[in-house]
Amino acid sequence: MQTSETQLRARAAAAGQGHLFEHVDSLEPVARAAYVAEIASVDFELVAEFAKLLAVKEARGGGEIRPPDVFPLRRDAASDARAARATKLGDELLRQGRVGYVLVAGGQASRLGYDGPKGAYRIGPVTDRSLFEWHARRLVATRARHGRAVPWYVMTSPANDAPTRAFFAENDWFGLDRGDVFFFSQAMVPALDFEGRILLSGPSNLFLSPNGHGGVLLALARSGLLADARRRGVEQLSYFQVDNPLAPPADPLFLGLHLEAAAGMSSKVVAKRNAGEKVGVIGRVDGRTSCIEYSDLPAELRDARDARGELLYGAGNIAVHVLDVGFVESLTTGGLKLPWHVARKSMTVWERGAIVQKQGAKFETFVFDALPLAPTSVTLEVARAIEFSPVKNASGDDSPATCRADLCRLHAEWVTTRGLPLPAPTEEGYHPVEIDPAFADQREAFLRAPAPKPRVHDKGHVYR
Ligand code: UD1
Repeated sequence: MQTSETQLRARAAAAGQGHLFEHVDSLEPVARAAYVAEIASVDFELVAEFAKLLAVKEARGGGEIRPPDVFPLRRDAASDARAARATKLGDELLRQGRVGYVLVAGGQASRLGYDGPKGAYRIGPVTDRSLFEWHARRLVATRARHGRAVPWYVMTSPANDAPTRAFFAENDWFGLDRGDVFFFSQAMVPALDFEGRILLSGPSNLFLSPNGHGGVLLALARSGLLADARRRGVEQLSYFQVDNPLAPPADPLFLGLHLEAAAGMSSKVVAKRNAGEKVGVIGRVDGRTSCIEYSDLPAELRDARDARGELLYGAGNIAVHVLDVGFVESLTTGGLKLPWHVARKSMTVWERGAIVQKQGAKFETFVFDALPLAPTSVTLEVARAIEFSPVKNASGDDSPATCRADLCRLHAEWVTTRGLPLPAPTEEGYHPVEIDPAFADQREAFLRAPAPKPRVHDKGHVYR
């Protein structure tokens, strides 16, 4: 034991991380052992790569940016025919059980200021159902519609894995088959100060943070779940984020377009609200389909418009993708190489016996950086009101309030189309109505369903 600590100390010192051991003699044996084990798991080569990144001033890799090819929302006869063909193809894929579902829920919900897994956040405007429940109930509807199991791979982080599993168990997996829900954790990586030294969060803990949603690819492979998907005959992975309850998990048009193009990874986009909206945009960089983060899009491109006055770079990434299982296998064989992004921020750290506030850097990979590595990629434009209303901030844009209003507006439209009763509008001007996604998760499904009666709750009506 002692030798290994001595060796580790030497390795850390050689890597310029000798400070990690300065105080170890003051630790109790149990804490010391845990701390040393944590240090032993650090990839010092990766940390050296992080430190190098800190030394260069942040600059986008260069590369010529061009507008993307988008399969548009408003379609002509030719694209309508293609859409019909693709939808049939996608339906077949779903009926044959060749689709698996991947939810990324490893983030820290820090902007929302919610203490717990973000998926446990209660978003239901009338029922208070959680984000996890919302997604799960849509998968219940998918399972019923296609008569197939819905293998659901839920990515957590070591920080929220246990509470996430417990939340699913307490809620009896929301009506899904327990054996169809799989949890896997993304990896954590150390945060550094601007001199490249690993930060601590306490005397016996490194400051670690999740490695970004790009970590999903390697985590899927290393957990064995990618192989599980293969064994089940899954060929395409439908990928969505926990923060957007509007995302339809099983969209035959999207799946079909992706399949028809033999794409490795495809994306859904919505028209940006305005040039300044803080979403990444899909474009072509050096001829490859890519996602350009809003902070990396030069101002003249951000504001550029075409002859009809539309934003040239208005294809806002909503972080809904399809990934071909074979593509993920090829990306993850022999370790994944996605670029690291640096987030410089103020952090609460432990230093020389005290908790202090300090500027530091966290490191993340982004799943959309796999786009340019795909042989081909489809970009599908969808309607924001139907598919995108994320919960990001505690108030203002993209907050629980805007998401609840959007959910109600969408469902109220379905309810009025069927001539069913609606409750009186709220002060914010929408009718507080909620449809259980397991009962109907799509407009057509609601219009076809046996006539439902509203149940009256304190906060509004529920159809289920
Ligand atoms: C993200 C996209 C942006 C897109 C927007 C759409 C990035 C950098 N940008 O922005 O292009 O327009 O979504 O909503 O992603 N997550 C993990 N593990 C992590 C980090 C995040 O699982 O280590 C998950 C979160 O739980 C969340 C999702 O990824 O579900 C998005 O993460 P977040 O950091 O909120 O992305 P945004 O900056 O909002």
